[in-house]
Amino acid sequence: MGHPVGHSRSPLIHGYWLRALGLPGAYLREDVTPADFPAFVAALRERGYVGGNCTVPHKEAAFRLADVTTDRARAVGAVNTLWFEDGRLSGDNTDGIGFLAHLSASQPGWETVTGTVVILGAGGAARGIVAALLAAGVDRVVIANRTPGRAEDLAQLFGKRASACDWTALPTVLPAADLLINTTSLGMQGQPPLDLDIAPLGRDAIVADIVYVPLDTPLLAQARRRGHRTTDGLGMLLHQAVPGFERWFGRRPVVTQELRDIIVRDIERPKAP
Ligand code: ATR
Repeated sequence: MGHPVGHSRSPLIHGYWLRALGLPGAYLREDVTPADFPAFVAALRERGYVGGNCTVPHKEAAFRLADVTTDRARAVGAVNTLWFEDGRLSGDNTDGIGFLAHLSASQPGWETVTGTVVILGAGGAARGIVAALLAAGVDRVVIANRTPGRAEDLAQLFGKRASACDWTALPTVLPAADLLINTTSLGMQGQPPLDLDIAPLGRDAIVADIVYVPLDTPLLAQARRRGHRTTDGLGMLLHQAVPGFERWFGRRPVVTQELRDIIVRDIERPKAP
C-alpha cells in the first residue's frame, strides 16, 4: 500500500520468494490515497490479505491503526509491515533491521570497528536506522540535516548517544566517523545530487547510501574512488522484506544473489517512453 506505488519493487521480491519456496500466494501493489487508507486497512482481511507492507505516505497512519506494535515500530513511530496475529492487526518497522542486516552481510564485523556514525538526513528512514544502530550498540550517532530542527528533534528522541550537528559543520565531524550513511533522497534519480566532499573522512570509514536508484550513487562512486568500503541501498530494500514474508507465509526467505540480480536488472531496464 502506497501512494504512488507503481515504482515499488516489493512485488518482484516477494514474487521471487513465493516461487522459490513453491508457495501459493501473491503480493500485489495497492495504490491507496491517504483518505482511503483507514478503510482499506480495516477491510484488509475481507480483501483476502494476510497482511502487507505500507510505504510513503502511510507509515505513520499504519502505526496509529495497528492494534499491536513492536518495540521497533514504537521507537520509530511508523509501521512498514502489517500482519494479523491472534485476530489483531500487528505492526512492525523493519527498515532499520533491514539496513543492519545488509550492513552485516556486506561489511562483516562492521560493529567491531564502528564507534561513531554520521547520519545525513532526519526523516523516517533516518529514524529507523538510528534506532537500529543504537540498539546494535554503536557508541555515538551524529545527525546532520538540511533543516537543523528536525535533526535536533530526532537526536533528542534517543538520548545521550545521539546528537545533531549543522550541515556546515560536517567537515569537522567527518574525521571522527567510522560509518557515514546517507538517508536523504539526495542523489536519487530526479533529485539534486548530494553535494558533500568526503575528503575529511578517515581512510577506514565505511560509506553507505540508502538510495538505490541509481544503484551506484554519486556518493558511493566518490567513496569508492577514495578507497572506502561502500554499502549500497538495494540490500536494505531486500532485507527489510524478510520479516514480513516470514510472518505472512510462515517461511523465512533468503536474500540471494539471484534475487539481487533480478532487481538490479529491473532498476537498470530502460523505461518505456
Ligand atoms: P524518508 O521517510 O524517506 O526519510 P522524509 O521523511 O521526507 O523521507 O525525509 C527526507 C530526508 O531527505 C530529510 O532529511 C530531508 O531534509 P529536510 O528535513 O530538511 O527536509 C532530506 N532532503 C530531501 N530533499 C533534500 C534536499 N534537496 N536537500 C537536502 N536534504 C533533502
